[in-house]
Amino acid sequence: MATRFPRHFTYRSLEDIALEIERLGLDITLERELEEVFEPVFIGGRKLGNALAFHPMEGCDGTLDGRPGDLTFRRWRRFGAGGAKLIWGEATAVVEEGRGNPRQLYLCERNLQAFAELLSATRKAHREAFGSEADLMVGIQLTHSGRYSCRRPVIACHHPYLDTITRLNKNGRGSIPPDYPLVSDDELATLEDAFVRAAELAARAGFDFIDIKQCHTYLPGELLGAKNRPGKYGGSFRNRTRFIRNVLTKISDTLGGKVILASRINAYDGVPYRRDPESGIGVPVPLSLPYHYGFGVDENDPFREDLSEPIELVRLMKNLGVRMVNVSLGSPYFNPHIGRPYERPSEGSYIAPEHPLIGVDRHFRITGAIREALPDMAIVGTGYSWLQGFLLPAAEANLRRKRVTIVGIGRAALAYPDMVRDALRGGTIDTKRVCITASFCTDLMKAKDTERGQYPTGCVPRDKLYAELYKEYLRKRT
Ligand SMILES: Cc1cc2nc3c(=O)[nH]c(=O)nc-3n(C[C@H](O)[C@H](O)[C@H](O)COP(=O)(O)O)c2cc1C
Repeated sequence: MATRFPRHFTYRSLEDIALEIERLGLDITLERELEEVFEPVFIGGRKLGNALAFHPMEGCDGTLDGRPGDLTFRRWRRFGAGGAKLIWGEATAVVEEGRGNPRQLYLCERNLQAFAELLSATRKAHREAFGSEADLMVGIQLTHSGRYSCRRPVIACHHPYLDTITRLNKNGRGSIPPDYPLVSDDELATLEDAFVRAAELAARAGFDFIDIKQCHTYLPGELLGAKNRPGKYGGSFRNRTRFIRNVLTKISDTLGGKVILASRINAYDGVPYRRDPESGIGVPVPLSLPYHYGFGVDENDPFREDLSEPIELVRLMKNLGVRMVNVSLGSPYFNPHIGRPYERPSEGSYIAPEHPLIGVDRHFRITGAIREALPDMAIVGTGYSWLQGFLLPAAEANLRRKRVTIVGIGRAALAYPDMVRDALRGGTIDTKRVCITASFCTDLMKAKDTERGQYPTGCVPRDKLYAELYKEYLRKRT
């Protein structure tokens, strides 16, 4: 039976949503006149034509050997023509066994040419829509999926609850036993080199920037919170940041200033939630205090962030040459309402335990605090899609308030990549095309398919191609 969930997004005007924000006591402001979103931004000596980004949005549509597939090209072209001047390319594995799904992109020598073609198709689409690509920057997100790798989990540390939901193999059988080995220090040192190799390849392909992915609790992100890990990559903040420090140092030694360095981080991992079987609402799993897990989590009140370490991390990355940080939160696997506030939960997941505006506010507040602590770092913000047609007014307000340097657009970019172009050209956007945060993209992402290995994902309500794929998935399932 379909889950019944409360409908929050019922606002017809800026005044309606402003009233709701006030009722909830949140610090979200909106500006009707868009100016700063279209102002240029300077990063690492390069000029970006506006202050909008498309976030990394994986489509699970690479070839089985990790090259971009036809649908990858389609998505990137649509992003290219959309008008955001920063395109933050999606999660791309640095080693085959670190792929999160069998269709995830994988950057290796063999696939290099295909990545160069993807980049050139994206730039061409931008050029055709806007006449020039001089003020466009396109990057790639390098990743290792860690405990969520589809072949076998690679874990930095044990977690009493996450180990029970981490599947041992791609058939989804078994969970992690207490004696499951941690990735060793030697293996981590080898993985550092894999990140460096992939960074070199990304530079050769011509990407403008490289993101070392440390968000959403994949391997480098899990390491940041590996407080109970023994040895030189665990325990103290210095040890937990060893991996990223080594990777950045080695990349700078190898590439010098050839590409801009960036990182997407989790400023707050949060705690795990699960679905209450009766109400369907998300409830936190039982925790004991102090809670020694996760990054940016207040150990004595883990429902709140403690930004002292995330701010230190951004500072140390700045000293190691990072010029842009994309701030994210939470984990799609154990607390999706934190990272991507939604109306409808994805299948099998829980109804959001809070009003989604509280989630949006958490993103804005945390990003604002990091931006304030490090005013000369370019900070990309997250969590705007739930705002639907009010996304750009919120972006404008946050830019004016200096809570963010560049506003990132995630799910809304799958739904309506031309939103930026429409806003630029006519000043209005088509509210019938905006993302409605109904999580069908996540449903498709989770759907296994024996022929494809994995369903590709995109916007089911707004993009016919994915509506058809979703119908096919429903047919096959029954
Ligand atoms: C289908 C899908 C694919 C995603 N792929 C990535 C990815 O490759 N890398 C990443 O860091 N985040 C990924 N995300 C998270 C988004 O970049 C973004 O953080 C999230 O959707 C919240 O932003 P929004 O409210 O604008 O959607 C993905 C999210 C979805 C729904």
